[in-house]
Amino acid sequence: MIDIHSEKIKKSIEEKGYLDLPLDPTLDLFLEIEKLKKEKNAVILAHYYQEPDIQDVADYIGDSLGLAQNAATTNADIIVFAGVHFMAETAKILNPLKKVLLPDLNAGCSLSDSAPPLLFKVFKDKYPNHKVITYINCSAGMKALSDIICTSSNAQKIVESLPLSQPIIFAPDKNLGAYINKQTGRNMLLWNGSCMVHEIFSLEKIIKLKIRHPKAKFIAHPECEEAVLAVADYIGSTTGLLKFSHTDTSQEFIVATEAGILHQMQKANPTKTFIPAPPNNSCACNDCPYMKLNTLEKLYLCLKYETPEITMEEGLRLAAKKPIDQMLDISTRYNL
Ligand code: 13P
Ligand code: SF4
Repeated sequence: MIDIHSEKIKKSIEEKGYLDLPLDPTLDLFLEIEKLKKEKNAVILAHYYQEPDIQDVADYIGDSLGLAQNAATTNADIIVFAGVHFMAETAKILNPLKKVLLPDLNAGCSLSDSAPPLLFKVFKDKYPNHKVITYINCSAGMKALSDIICTSSNAQKIVESLPLSQPIIFAPDKNLGAYINKQTGRNMLLWNGSCMVHEIFSLEKIIKLKIRHPKAKFIAHPECEEAVLAVADYIGSTTGLLKFSHTDTSQEFIVATEAGILHQMQKANPTKTFIPAPPNNSCACNDCPYMKLNTLEKLYLCLKYETPEITMEEGLRLAAKKPIDQMLDISTRYNL
C-alpha cells in the first residue's frame, strides 16, 4: 500500500507521471512481480504493442477488444494496465470499484489526441440524425459523446448492426473508417484523425520488400493508409494478424503494424520469418512512442506502490460506459 506521506512518491507522479525510485539492480523483477501479483490479487493486462518483457509477465495479452472483454470480467482487486491511457481508462469505466493502475500516465495516443471532445461535439451537433460510432482509441470524454464504441476487431460488425438507412459518423480514425466504408458499402462521415505509427509506412519500400521476398504475405492493420491496405494480402486487428500468421501456410510475412506484435508472432511460429514493414523515414522501427513508455521497472514500482492510479468523475464514467456496454453486447451476440 502506498505511503501517502511520502513526498518523494507524490513528487515523482506529479512531475513525471510515473514512479522514479532507485531500484536494487540485483532484484529479479519477473519474480518480484509474480510475488506482488499473488499478494495483492492483481492482474496484468498487456497490449501486444508492449515490450517483450512486459508481455512475458502479463496474465493476459490481447488486442483492444480482448483487453476490454477481459477487464469487464476479471476477479482481481487490482488491474495493472500495460498499455496506453485510453485502455486503462476503459478498464476503470468497466470496474469503478477496482484499482486500475497505469505504469506511466504519459502513455497517451496520437489517435485519441486527434479527437478533442469539445471540437467533436461542435461537429456532431451539425448532424443530429447521425449515430456516432467511435473507435475505442479515444478519451472517456469522446466515448461519452458516442452511441457505440468499436475496436478494429469488431468495427465491421458494429457498423452492420445499424440499418443501412441509418446515417453514421465514424471517429476518430479516418483510415479505419474509410476501410469499413469500403467493406460495407456505407458512406459514413469520417472524423479526420489518424495514428502516427500506422501512417508512417512507406508504400514504395513495402513494394520493394515484396519484390525481394516474393513468397512473403503482406499483412496490415486497418489503421494504415488506404494505399498501403490496397496491396495487403490480409487486413486485420492485431489479434487477426496474429491468427492469420499462425494459420496461413506461408513461411514469411511482412507486417504493417506496431513492431511489438512480432514478439508473439515469433513465439507462436518459431520457424517462420516476420519482417516489420519499413517506415518512410530512416528510423528502423515502428514502435509506438506511447506504448513503449511503459517499462518492466515502472510496472514493478507501480504494482508495489499502487500508483499512478486512474480515477474518473462518476457522471463521465456512466456516460462513457453506455456505448462500451453496447459494443460488448454486440460482440457477445456475434461471438467476437
Ligand atoms: P487493436 O488492438 O484493436 O488491434 O488496435 C491497435 C492499436 O492501435 C491499439 O492502440
Ligand atoms: Fe495510439 Fe497508434 Fe500508439 Fe495505438 S499505436 S496507442 S493508435 S499512437
